[in-house]
Amino acid sequence: MRINATFVALLALGGAVVATAATSPIFAEGLRARPVQDALTRKECGACHMVYPAGLLPARSWRAMMGDLENHFGDNASLEADATQKIAAYLEANAADAGGARRAKILRDLDAAAAPLRITETPFWKRKHEKRNRVAAATLKRKGAKSKSDCKACHEGAEQGVFEDD
Ligand code: HEC
Ligand code: HEC
Repeated sequence: MRINATFVALLALGGAVVATAATSPIFAEGLRARPVQDALTRKECGACHMVYPAGLLPARSWRAMMGDLENHFGDNASLEADATQKIAAYLEANAADAGGARRAKILRDLDAAAAPLRITETPFWKRKHEKRNRVAAATLKRKGAKSKSDCKACHEGAEQGVFEDD
């Protein structure tokens, strides 16, 4: 009887793990990241392009980016110090590696010391898009994408952090 009880408990545990794997943003097939909830970040970081979910880059990348908004991919995206600090804090707190998490798919094969400023420079992103040349110039044009950074043109749910289907 005792063995049975343990077995049942283990089964229940296994079920819980499976359920978590199926619903967790991190373990889901494809990639899911929480959409940006912070109003200030949405406003300021959505002024020129889609609002990139914070979970698509590690904290060290956001820190580097927020430390040099004057030179933001050829644009000056600088903000007042207070706003910069608040947005940086939000992005870092919700980054791919927030809370010491290391399982985010977007961080796969990314050197622990590397702080890419682009999601499109991460090994995971490259691997997903190099396959069948998914971001070839002709494809970008057909999709009406400004560049490969224009996730929303191909992934309708990009701002909501959904990239499972296109
Ligand atoms: C020109 C179209 C295009 C653009 C732009 C684009 N993608 Fe994709 N992406 C694709 C296609 C096609 C696939 C493969 C089909 C799929 O798995 O949904 C894909 C796959 C992915 C996957 C893997 C999904 C999975 O199920 O394994 C992720 C994550 C992803 N893209 C994120 C992004 C992000 C983030 C951006 C913007 C920085 C972006 N993509 C820009 C076309 C695009
Ligand atoms: C003044 C316009 C402007 C503002 C404001 C702005 N950006 Fe950008 N951002 C750009 C441009 C231009 C690019 C390069 C896009 C391209 O290559 O097509 C870019 C690219 C990015 C990328 C890289 C996307 C990729 O993977 O290729 C990230 C991440 C990003 N911005 C985050 C932010 C954040 C966070 C904020 C708010 C603090 C912000 N941006 C505000 C203009 C802006």
